[in-house]
Amino acid sequence: MAVKTDPEQKQEQRLERALRKYKGKPGVLIAALQEAQEIFGYLPRKVLIRVANKLTIPLSEVYSVVSFYSFFSTVPTARHRLEVCLGTACYVQGAETLLRDLQDLCGTGPGKSAAESPFSITTTRCVGACGAAPIVKIGEELHGEMTAEKLPRLLEELEKQ
Ligand code: FES
Repeated sequence: MAVKTDPEQKQEQRLERALRKYKGKPGVLIAALQEAQEIFGYLPRKVLIRVANKLTIPLSEVYSVVSFYSFFSTVPTARHRLEVCLGTACYVQGAETLLRDLQDLCGTGPGKSAAESPFSITTTRCVGACGAAPIVKIGEELHGEMTAEKLPRLLEELEKQ
């Protein structure tokens, strides 16, 4: 039997709370999967099964949504996980262009595995810092008023860590 470490338990508790919030509501699968990916960094099979069971959605439907959207990843992501907020305020402030610039700089994109780059890039919903849009979230840190010009320096600093 596998022993769960503290961080794993915390992740599972967070997932449980998140799924409770979505249970029984229509049209919440994408939001639930995004939240699950925010918690685990990617979407392993066991998480997809939990989502399917808790939301009473066929596992095949969950898999088809995950494979349809490129921002979902079923493989572990890289050492540095960057999330570009695509909420309305960030979108309006050019987050989509920023996402493309970031992908070009990193040579990676949503869903690519850690072996290909030290960076993984995913997207996220509003992180509650709309006043500083556009936002790039790295771990728990929010980097606001992000521009294409600031990205190379940011990546350089991350690589030094
Ligand atoms: S929309 Fe990006 S922080 Fe709110």
